[in-house]
Amino acid sequence: MKKYLITFLLAFCLAFIPSAAHQEVDNIVEEIMSRMSLDDKIGQLHQIDGRTDLTKVCDMIRKGQVSSIMNIVDASVIDSLQRIAVEESPSGIPILFARDIVHGFKTILPIPLGQAASFDDALICSAARNTALEATEIGIKWAFAPMMDIARDPRWGRIAEGFGEDPYLASRLAVSVVKGYQGDSLSDELSMAACAKHFAGYGAAEGGRDYNTTYVPVRSLYDTYFPPFKACVEAGVASFMSSFNDNDGVPATGNRWLLTEVLRDEWGFTGMVVSDWGSVGGLIPHGVAKDKKEAAKICLEAGCDMDMMSYSYLNNLKELIAEGDVSMYVVDEAVRRVLRLKVRLGLLEKPYTRKTSESVIYSENVLETACRLTEESSVLLKNDGILPLGEDIKTVLVTGPMADAAYDQMGTWALDGDKAHTLTPVEAIRKNLPSGVKLIYVNSLDYPRDKSTDDFKALKKAARKADVLIAFVGEEQMMSGEAHSLSDLHLQGQQSEMLEALASTGKPLVTVFMAGRPLVIASEMELSDAVLYMWHPGTMGGQAAYNLLWGKANPSGKLPVTFPRNEGQIPIYYNHKHTSHIAKGTEGNLDNVPREMPQSVMGHTSSYLDVAPTPLLPFGFGLSYTTFELSNLRVETPEVRASDSVVVYVDVKNTGDRQGCEVVQAYTGRKSASTTRPMKELKAYERVSLEAGECRTVRLEIPVESLAFCRKDLSWGTEPGNYVLTVGTSSEGGLVSYFKLNY
Ligand code: GLC
Repeated sequence: MKKYLITFLLAFCLAFIPSAAHQEVDNIVEEIMSRMSLDDKIGQLHQIDGRTDLTKVCDMIRKGQVSSIMNIVDASVIDSLQRIAVEESPSGIPILFARDIVHGFKTILPIPLGQAASFDDALICSAARNTALEATEIGIKWAFAPMMDIARDPRWGRIAEGFGEDPYLASRLAVSVVKGYQGDSLSDELSMAACAKHFAGYGAAEGGRDYNTTYVPVRSLYDTYFPPFKACVEAGVASFMSSFNDNDGVPATGNRWLLTEVLRDEWGFTGMVVSDWGSVGGLIPHGVAKDKKEAAKICLEAGCDMDMMSYSYLNNLKELIAEGDVSMYVVDEAVRRVLRLKVRLGLLEKPYTRKTSESVIYSENVLETACRLTEESSVLLKNDGILPLGEDIKTVLVTGPMADAAYDQMGTWALDGDKAHTLTPVEAIRKNLPSGVKLIYVNSLDYPRDKSTDDFKALKKAARKADVLIAFVGEEQMMSGEAHSLSDLHLQGQQSEMLEALASTGKPLVTVFMAGRPLVIASEMELSDAVLYMWHPGTMGGQAAYNLLWGKANPSGKLPVTFPRNEGQIPIYYNHKHTSHIAKGTEGNLDNVPREMPQSVMGHTSSYLDVAPTPLLPFGFGLSYTTFELSNLRVETPEVRASDSVVVYVDVKNTGDRQGCEVVQAYTGRKSASTTRPMKELKAYERVSLEAGECRTVRLEIPVESLAFCRKDLSWGTEPGNYVLTVGTSSEGGLVSYFKLNY
């Protein structure tokens, strides 16, 4: 009992130091380390899944073999297991309880790809803070999020989990989630440790097939895939998760260059690295380790501190040390990082779940914030004027497999979401419909893959009685997320046929998509008078849908990812390079290809014969119920030096008849550099809310250091020269100006 007392007293004193300085934390860690056996230390590097025989779990805890347990979400079970760890294990070190909390805990938020469309850092941070309040209430102190893998391939199911294709947007929003989860101090009882995942390059899976090999060369890693991770290190993220993929031949979990030389030596990360599920043992199927013993050595020495579920560390480290194959120094360093996290989280002085008089789970404030974020995450892709629905609408037909899909609208990684708490569109419309307006609900397809067209005749008959048709379509949550990649991105089942049937009635058709990725929707957009893309919107999807459709809220979302015309265009993304043969944008019509033409009369451009080279919808695009006009772009600093910022002003006017929000975006591009560079890159954005007729000057600031890139000699930095600046409301079009970087 005495040993706990020392630790407790030390930690207790620390509790009164608002933020224990690193030295105090390190002192406690060293004190704990001094009392630990080798078995104790190895046990602190082992994470298990709690969804198993709890008797076995208790036995492992008593032996000091468990450092972290994931997937237990019952506070009483958490506390009982914790009590065994504190009172019966050899070291008395508390367990770190973890969970995949990617977009909400009980109150499910829009999927991160949807949240990214809001371009609203502050709201995302606030929603993430609410998530931390919900999760810590039941004892979770570590969330495996934010996921920040850059994704340019919508075939990849996990595009849903990240913030899209742009490194700058993903950096800002990943940091927002880290700040929301971790708060001002990790030792705050309402805070939980965030985890930057999956490091690195995982989103570049060849063929868009999850877990597939990636080839991302060093320059692209630094320019495209690293920035969100580096931003999170700078924001103080407490942990990292290594990824499954092998990049350029080296599995990330065993990649010392990645996990130590870049992450720790270059970026100064002092937190803890956990493997992905079984990815230490994954080196065996990757073919770079003959057994778990070799895999344990490679990964621990690479800088992977904690082994999630492969048991490679637990079962092999003692032997590796005894044989002199792994040094105690390496083990001690890993143990220190794990203990440092536990001390910073305040686990030593408060290992048990906090007592709370009033639960925050599903509280009004949490739900209201979630609803606002869902509204802002929704992107209006087309509107001929039918939206927002007005008083002339007396009969509304609602249909489609996503109109009442309480489970599916929560999206992937909604592990603790409860569909009984989900408000679906038809429920929200039924609940909120203005008096005197009649709702006709036809459940035409039971679920997105439903192949039955039996109800289409009745559907058309019902549609003819309505003033407007609202069809909710999309994909089930199981079509999205980990291991759920698709080669065909068209609507599944008979959804498109259903839209055709609705359109054939001649009634105004509003199509609302709920999906975990950009789908191929060109023909559906043609059929529809208005299109709203809500991604998988989460718990409040129904209320947000009603608010947007009836104009209680005005859409302001902007696409965080490019929508292709078809799968053949993939990968297609806005920040592409010029090439030596840039497409003119007019190509791509087979009818224009002459018969028996001599070999080289066609274009010589980077394009296709059978489809336009441009996307269906570009990054940054999104409509509103009002209109905006940008004017008077001026660059306050036409010439800058490396330590400066480029300061830009632009006037934004709401030229419509109702309040709305616009996202003003600033892109930079270079005419020449030591390497080929993207034609444009997002470097600043600002959400601005304007009343009808209101005009405001928006200031955008671009630190010159943010123009740095991996140069021809692989060094990181900027280069002097002339830059093109484009300021607009999408990655296409906008006002153009210039600035010069001098040295
Ligand atoms: C999964 C995922 C990872 C998740 C982990 C724990 O395989 O790749 O994102 O955090 O395992 O569930």
